[in-house]
Amino acid sequence: MSKKYSFNTWLPLVMAGALAVSVPAAVIAKQGADTSHGKTVYEETCIACHGENGAGAVPGAPNFTDKNGRLTKPDEVLIEHAVEGFQTPGSPMGMPELGGNPDLTDQDIADVIAYIRQTFGK
Ligand code: HEC
Repeated sequence: MSKKYSFNTWLPLVMAGALAVSVPAAVIAKQGADTSHGKTVYEETCIACHGENGAGAVPGAPNFTDKNGRLTKPDEVLIEHAVEGFQTPGSPMGMPELGGNPDLTDQDIADVIAYIRQTFGK
């Protein structure tokens, strides 16, 4: 998936019926998110590393409750990083693609990011 999304670049692709093109994170982020489904996803996949309280359970996992922390990034960035994987330079461990659960969809990730923001964000 390309790093930069713009209306003009993705729309014609979608209209052309290019089914392999996934919906950009920015678009998903603007759609409604189901935070109760997000809670289920969090408890099944994310909690092992991010912890019950969102403060991080493994070395390198960020503290989502830090008010100057990762949740200051916009939803579309957080979704993209959770979908594609992400590692801060020098970090002891990276965020695995889809949290290591290939069954998750982009919508599942949008839901869980909304849940994380609602639950651990200030
Ligand atoms: C195997 C451990 C592990 C699992 C499972 C995991 N994460 Fe992460 N996650 C990390 C680590 C480590 C980082 C910090 C990466 C870095 O900044 O180098 C991280 C970072 C993040 C970030 C911050 C990204 C940013 O831009 O700063 C988000 C959002 C996130 N994870 C969401 C999730 C979600 C949602 C799930 C469940 C679907 C999940 N994580 C599952 C280890 C994990």
